[in-house]
Amino acid sequence: MFNINLFDWKGCKILDCPAGASSFVAESSKYDIYAVGCDPLFGNDIKVLVSIGKADIEHVMERVSHVPHLYKWDFYPSIDVLKEYRMLALKRFAEDYSVGAAEGRYIKAALPRLPFKDNSFDLVLSGHFLFTYSDKFDYSFHLDSILELFRVCSKELRIYPIQGPDARPYKYINELLYDLERENVTARLLSVPFEFQQGSNQMLQVSK
Ligand SMILES: C[S@@+](CC[C@H](N)C(=O)[O-])C[C@H]1O[C@@H](n2cnc3c(N)ncnc32)[C@H](O)[C@@H]1O
Repeated sequence: MFNINLFDWKGCKILDCPAGASSFVAESSKYDIYAVGCDPLFGNDIKVLVSIGKADIEHVMERVSHVPHLYKWDFYPSIDVLKEYRMLALKRFAEDYSVGAAEGRYIKAALPRLPFKDNSFDLVLSGHFLFTYSDKFDYSFHLDSILELFRVCSKELRIYPIQGPDARPYKYINELLYDLERENVTARLLSVPFEFQQGSNQMLQVSK
């Protein structure tokens, strides 16, 4: 979904924000990457996080099963395989969380403010949050959050998807690109190979 080859980021620091109960941080060491995840839910007991994670998976399965024709079934060939992937990611997160939290790899934080110094990470990834919930946050939240995510990275920020809950591109995307340019921030929309929800095949890349 981020069109990323993790071998290209060997030895780098990557922030996953919001990380949720997913496995990017846990799996990153395989690529010799130091990853940190942040999320407002972190700080809770692992049992609470796993229970929220399971409820989220059930919610997604329920939603997708009602409208399967709105999704492309190539990466995930079926709802059962989708669930297996999500459960595996939750398991890997759960196995890593306690040690990772003690090592400072899972940090409680909520946009639009992050507890990191400028340029702390080479790359910042933000999946399934900003535009996904564009009906819950206003334009200034989006702009402030993107500037904040960009502040803590030294090279690049990637945000996926650019679609909102109605599967249409974020309605203020042009204003956003314009306002970012006014802040001297280079941002562009790029196609990505991953497309599960039909039409969700673009990310916003913001680079220095
Ligand atoms: C759908 S999950 C995405 C998690 C992960 N990136 C993924 O793709 O599986 C959305 C996450 O956003 C987090 N969240 C909610 N409000 C937030 C905020 N103000 N700042 C950062 N994260 C927030 C939630 O706790 C939840 O874990």
